[in-house]
Amino acid sequence: MILGIETSCDETAAAVVTEGGDIVSNVVASQAELHARFGGVVPEVASRRHLELIVPVIEEALDGHEVSTIAVTSRPGLIGALLVGVSAAKALAWARRLPLVAVDHLHGHVSSLYLKPLDLQPPFTCLLASGGHTMLLEVTDRAGYRVLGTTLDDAAGEAFDKGARLLGLGYPGGKEIDALARQGDPSAYDFPVARVPGLDFSFSGLKTALLYRVRDLGEAELAERRSDLAASYQRAIVRALVERIEATGADRIAVVGGVAANSELRAALPGAALAPLPLCTDNAAMIASAARYTDPVPYPDYLVLDARSTA
Ligand code: KG4
Ligand code: ZN
Repeated sequence: MILGIETSCDETAAAVVTEGGDIVSNVVASQAELHARFGGVVPEVASRRHLELIVPVIEEALDGHEVSTIAVTSRPGLIGALLVGVSAAKALAWARRLPLVAVDHLHGHVSSLYLKPLDLQPPFTCLLASGGHTMLLEVTDRAGYRVLGTTLDDAAGEAFDKGARLLGLGYPGGKEIDALARQGDPSAYDFPVARVPGLDFSFSGLKTALLYRVRDLGEAELAERRSDLAASYQRAIVRALVERIEATGADRIAVVGGVAANSELRAALPGAALAPLPLCTDNAAMIASAARYTDPVPYPDYLVLDARSTA
């Protein structure tokens, strides 16, 4: 069994997964409430909270289970946040003389598809849409991926979060917009879907368009039109994502990452393999899953392992 540890952003997570891809435990302590009053993740606050949560979260995930490998997200992410997970993983692995697997967070998101019961087999084309990344990936084997396209500015989740902030909704904004959009008219406002060459994405213009719409409306009018704005804004993001997927011409499609939890996106891609809802946003089961396809570093060579903020 593999113990996975994830602390790259504002979720402190640990999970135990079998070599065959069964989830034994999956513990996620979200810090979202802590960061909500700042309207986004404050890196230093996140690091300190990870320090408080990491041991109890790992203990809860382990719950007496014996593991033979420890896997941890080592990149990309907030450096101070990553360091808490990497240090904990090194200490645990060293104390038990176990091997350690350094996992790429994006490979982790893709590997959420390899857990049972979904157990998706490559090849497929994967949309990875989260708070930090928006990418189209070509996946030919479970050990990795090739990047076909990426966002030139904001990530799709970031567009949701910034849009929610403009609309006076809470953080993280994706879930809030998703819920509010159900009561609104998606054709009420015409938001531009950026067309950039190739398979890349761009979301910064969309956010600016919403800013102008919100400014044009008075307080009272905004309150009245909030759900229409949310529905139209969400429609534009979903359209941009779906158009790009269709532009690949691929027939086997998968979607992972926090934005894969979006109900309109899921409904727009009925034929796609969708990451299960609890595995869309950051978790450690996907990290342990990725470790099944990544070479371990033997004891004690990983003591020199470093976290990295970039991919
Ligand atoms: O994968 P994730 O947990 O963290 C990163 O690796 O970035 O993704 C978090 C992002 C946030 O931007 C959040 O607003 C978005 O996923 N998100 C959603 C939904 N649930 C979470 N976006 C749209 N609709 C949702 N239901
Ligand atoms: Zn993530």
